Amino acid sequence: GTLACGVDVGGTKIAGGVVDEEGKILERLTLESPAEDVEAIEDAIASLVSDLASRHDVACVGIGAAGYVDSDRRRVYFAPNLAWRDIDLSAELEERVKLPVVVENDANAAAWGEFTFGVGEDVEDFMLVTVGTGVGGGLVLDGALHRGAFGVAAEIGHMRVVPGGILCGCGNRGCLESYGSGTALVREAREAASGKSLLARTLLDRAGGDPEKINGPLITEVARGGDPFSLELIADVGRWLGEGIASLAAVLDPAMVAIGGGVSEAGDLLMDPIRTAFARELSGRGYRPVAQVVRAELGNLAGLVGAADLARRP
Ligand code: BGC
Ligand code: NA
Ligand code: ZN
Repeated sequence: GTLACGVDVGGTKIAGGVVDEEGKILERLTLESPAEDVEAIEDAIASLVSDLASRHDVACVGIGAAGYVDSDRRRVYFAPNLAWRDIDLSAELEERVKLPVVVENDANAAAWGEFTFGVGEDVEDFMLVTVGTGVGGGLVLDGALHRGAFGVAAEIGHMRVVPGGILCGCGNRGCLESYGSGTALVREAREAASGKSLLARTLLDRAGGDPEKINGPLITEVARGGDPFSLELIADVGRWLGEGIASLAAVLDPAMVAIGGGVSEAGDLLMDPIRTAFARELSGRGYRPVAQVVRAELGNLAGLVGAADLARRP
């Protein structure tokens, strides 16, 4: 079978792997992401791919990029949380690695990965929500990845949930991503800790007294230990997501919604509030079939596995 290289490019790290047709990863590498520097990101991706391709017979490369990607699967229009502004990422990378390169949105790639090899296998109407630095969405409709007219369908992180709300990296105010992401989780925790809120005391202690040391994994760990405030913070994120998913279900009617991304590592601490809010806000509840809301299965490998598989397809 054909081997493809899949790369997931995020704000903090770049993960790449050689993937076979069954979705099996033969070798995997990770690099820190030089998030602010466009050329450095391209060089890092290229060195990772070249390294893998030197040991495996790779036919093509699929990139999962955290931004708005053109339907020709080459250009990135822009990225709310990275420095990309209207660049031909495929051309830049093809020149460096001398292999055909296809670019897909990171959440679309992850959705495809979960649909093809993970929790969404054979679920013909499937949605993946990735919860990390941003909030991403990927949509499989009638068994096909839905890219939209211009490639930017399922940008669910930028659905407005609060008129006049918090300013988002995309330039708008009140996007779901400003309330239901890992970034929002950390922002709320740091704000409470900086304000010397009694509620945030345990969290602040565990961060050595420095609010800036509070991060997502720490909040999850302290929540697991039973800290009520950390539990609330995660539950708030879950509530925003569950309500957002209920609105999306009114339009898209998926059979299953899977939750992935770094924050989903919190497991039921996040999933329970998502399910509760979703059930509470679903239009027609009590009189209609309800989509399953589940945790994604492939973890942080969904994006690279999906990107590799999509690169093999026309
Ligand atoms: C971007 C999406 C991306 C998501 C997750 C959002 O801010 O607009 O393109 O899929 O973050 O990385
Ligand atoms: Na998407
Ligand atoms: Zn936005």
